Amino acid sequence: MNQNPCIIALDVDSVEQARALVRRLGGAAPFYKVGMELYAAAGMEFVRELVGQGKQVFLDMKFYDIGETVKRAVAQVARCGVRFLTVHGSGAVMRAAVEGKGGAPLGLLAVTVLTSFDRNDLADLGYPCAVSDLVALRVRKAVEAGIDGIVCSPLEAASVRALAGPGTILVTPGVRSAGAGKGDQKRVATPAEAIRAGANYLVIGRQVTRAEDPAGEMARILEEIRAGA
Ligand code: C5P
Repeated sequence: MNQNPCIIALDVDSVEQARALVRRLGGAAPFYKVGMELYAAAGMEFVRELVGQGKQVFLDMKFYDIGETVKRAVAQVARCGVRFLTVHGSGAVMRAAVEGKGGAPLGLLAVTVLTSFDRNDLADLGYPCAVSDLVALRVRKAVEAGIDGIVCSPLEAASVRALAGPGTILVTPGVRSAGAGKGDQKRVATPAEAIRAGANYLVIGRQVTRAEDPAGEMARILEEIRAGA
């Protein structure tokens, strides 16, 4: 297991709030996720600022476009020292992303099927299949395309691990300590359960970012993982 497998989701709407959180967490959190909201507010400039402070950055942009555009956008992100970037798990998008990354030390993560989608949403898109079948197909395609990792629910992690093999990085959001508020998450697992199911990294947002003492909460989560709770 990584020494600290937690990636803190900076789901805030201003660069000031993001900076304040990173400052409060200090050495307790080396890895942050910047999603669409903060990216829209603060852009690549803030991503570069984090990288410049020695933080690892997961840029959660879920790229989806024609191959040439994806390839060129991924090449730009790769130049900024970002550690992980998400793209949608469609074959052409993933192949273009791998091309754009070239030899850069950027981990490309595929989003297979959004966890908010159910069978009806897939039918609406013209895919008459079960969510689990599309997830499995896209995991296989991701491995074939040379993608580095998969974002999945901790409840899917064991089956995705079985399909993707030991070399694929699994990153799981939807993680909560027992007793912590779930917020709008419906299907959650504890940090230790997610690690046991095969996750390499856990995305943790509100449990840490909205805690009275974010660094203390982070330390408690690491202790829980160590204890296998
Ligand atoms: O606050 P919380 O721990 O629920 O935050 C989880 C983070 O992971 C959010 O940034 C959310 O957008 C993201 N995420 C998720 N479920 C997914 C994919 C991403 O919760 N399936």
